Order: sequence, then C-alpha cells, then structure tokens
Amino acid sequence: MNIIQKCTLSLLIVLLSVASTQAQDATITAIKAGKLIDVENGKVLTNQIIIVRHDSIIQVGANISIPKGASIIDLSKYTVLPGLIDCHTHITGQPSGDYYADIFRKSPVDVAVTAHLFAKKTLDAGFTTVRDLGSVGLVDVALRNAINNGDIAGPTILAATTYIGSTGSHGDLNGYSPFLQLNIGKGLTGVANGVDAVREQVRFNIKYGADVIKFGASAGVLSEEESVGGPQYSQEEMNAIVSETKMWGKKAAAHAHGTEAIKMAVKAGVASIEHGSLVDAEGIQLMKEHGTYLVSDVYDDEYILSEYAKLGFPEKIINKERLVGRLQRENFQKAVEAGVKIAYGTDAGVYPHGWNGKQFKWMTRYGMTPMTAIQSATVHAADLLGISKNAGSITAGKKADIIAVLISPLDDVTSLENVQFVMKAGTVYKK
Ligand code: ARG
Repeated sequence: MNIIQKCTLSLLIVLLSVASTQAQDATITAIKAGKLIDVENGKVLTNQIIIVRHDSIIQVGANISIPKGASIIDLSKYTVLPGLIDCHTHITGQPSGDYYADIFRKSPVDVAVTAHLFAKKTLDAGFTTVRDLGSVGLVDVALRNAINNGDIAGPTILAATTYIGSTGSHGDLNGYSPFLQLNIGKGLTGVANGVDAVREQVRFNIKYGADVIKFGASAGVLSEEESVGGPQYSQEEMNAIVSETKMWGKKAAAHAHGTEAIKMAVKAGVASIEHGSLVDAEGIQLMKEHGTYLVSDVYDDEYILSEYAKLGFPEKIINKERLVGRLQRENFQKAVEAGVKIAYGTDAGVYPHGWNGKQFKWMTRYGMTPMTAIQSATVHAADLLGISKNAGSITAGKKADIIAVLISPLDDVTSLENVQFVMKAGTVYKK
C-alpha cells in the first residue's frame, strides 16, 4: 500500500467512525423523571434526567445536558422507578376454570401456544424480569429464548424448567388410580428420589436450559398429597440438590411451607425459601445466619379462597389453603421484623398474570414500608437472582428497565397495580 492509499484508508476509517457516532446519537433517549426512586439508597430524587443509549442507561442525574438529536420522553409528572422483578412466577400458565382439563386434557403444546400472552401481560404490568419457578415440557425455556431473540414481547426470564420433587410430592401427580400412567419422557416429570437421582435431575434440568433449580422441600397447597408442611426430601437429598446446583454455578430455590423443611433447606444452602408459611423463630434465625432470602406469596390466600372453588379446585386443596394462609402472613411479618432478607415473589399463575403488583399492598400490611417493599422487588430481587450488574436499579451501566406511575407508590403502593409506562432494555412497551 502506498502513502496515498494509506491516507485515504485512514480518512475513510475516521469518516466511518464519525458516521457511526452520529448514527448512535439517534439511538439516544433522554427520560425526564419528575421523581425517581433511588432504590439503592431508599431515597426519592427529583427532576432527574436518565440518558439511555441502545439498551442501557448511560447517565443519571439532575444536571445533565441532553445530547443533541436525542428523543425525549417526558415523565416529569410521574414517579419513575426500576423495572419490577417477580422472583416467583409460573408464567406459562394459569387456571382455565376447569381443573381436570388443565391436568388431563392439555399437553405442553397447548401451554406453549398461550404462554406468550401471559408474558406480555406481565411485562405490561411493569415486571421487566421474572424468575420462573416451574413449567411443563420446557415451555419456559422456549419462551425465554423467544423473548431474548426479540421474537415476542415479555420480561427477561430466568427459567427453572421442571420442579424437582420426590414420588408423591407436591411436584408429582397424586390422588389418581395407580393404573393411570402418564407417558412423559424421562426427566421431564422432575420426579426423582435418592441422592444420585436428584443429582441427575439437576444435571438434566441444566442441560436443557435451567438458569435456576427449584425443588420441593415440603408438601404444598395446590396438589392432592396429604399435609402442606411435611418434608418431602431427606436432608441428604436436599444437600445433594443444592451442592450439585452450585457445582454448575447456579442457585437453588426451595418450595417450603413446613417448619422443619424450611430449616433443612436453609441448612442445605438454598438461596431462597419460597412461601415460608410455617417458619418458626429458629427457622427465622437460621435464615438470617445463612443470608437466605424469603420469597413469600402473601397475596395468594386472598385469590384462592375467593376464586378457587369457582375454578373447580377440589375442596381438599381449598382446605389446605385455610391451614396456611393466615399463618403465612403472620410469620412473614415476624421474618420482616427480625431482618430476614425479603425478595418479591408472587407465584403468579396461581392468580391471573399481570396482577403481579397486587402483592405490594399485602407486604405493607404485614410489616414492610412502601420503600422496603419496592426494594424487595428491585434491588434485593436482583441480588437474589444474581443479576445486579444489569437490573434492579436505575444506574449507569445497567439495562434500561424503567417504569413509571402517576401516583407515587410511596404515598399509595397500590399505584403499582396499574403501571403507566414500561421500558425494557431501552424499548418502550407501554406509554
Ligand atoms: N404453589 C403454592 C402451593 O401450592 C401456592 C400456595 C398458595 N397459598 C399461599 N397461602 N401462599 O403450595
């Protein structure tokens, strides 16, 4: 290459990079936030400007000059906060009104066909990330991938694939004739017994796309086995599940209503206890020592007791709900007051998707302030999910997951049941 050619080439490179900077400038959005909830410090800031480029936040502050050519979103009359995170959903389905049809007349293909509707409802409700704790037929993985590819709209999903449970557990199908055999592929039921088999099940789930492992430490409500609190795995099995999960660099979440099962799962090293309904003082102490999060679905009792008989659920299940509902809320308050780490998780899919924000009211009735409840659904939830680098606050460097409400949720937390503005990764989905 001679000197003229070299000069021409470098000029071309300079011109190209100038052109690309100008092109990038067109992708800059400036959001004017009247009030901004700084969830990291528990404070409200006023008249903030958030600069978003592509999918990320690049600058936040009061005295920021808006770059020329930036498009402006005026939320100066709104309270702006980070996209909400629900740490416990079942986003691929919800009761149709026919209990037996849902169990016996639907395949994972039916579930897959409608799952995107629930994903959209969840996103429109201001929940830009969910941890999905149990689905059928790997539909959650397919949904997550389609959202990540930009094929459909929905929240960022951390998927658990199948619930791991023992024979006869909350994760198994109980109460039917032993002559009824389900033809589900090996691994896809999530039923596994014994140390070796549970390790293999963890490997299976991760092999097929799990971001997180969910297992049943105790019995449950919405299943037909006896008891809601009895442990359903031995200490050895729980230890095996959690250590295997950690070996693969993932976190484990334990479904646990029962007093003993909660303690066993905490000792095994789970990142979170789901439900935690019958936790006692010793369990609360253990959770504090281990830094275990409590993810408690304190709204659901309301919906189950008012709607589930109409939705065709057997009386046995509704009676189980009557045993735990009130205690769950009282024990939640004790855990909050003792300083257990709380992350927001609703078990969405027990109630209609898109209603994820209804739980804020119940959390503030049982020990939390609007600010701590919002932190549980943002900065703390991101910590539990291991995604603080990208989500959980409106901070430069994170993904632009941003929502807004007209009424400040610090004055009335129920305003989060009706979110007016939703941006996920720099794209506006609701305005
Ligand atoms: N998936 C949970 C279970 O079946 C739902 C519990 C709902 N009830 C409640 N009080 N949180 O066990």
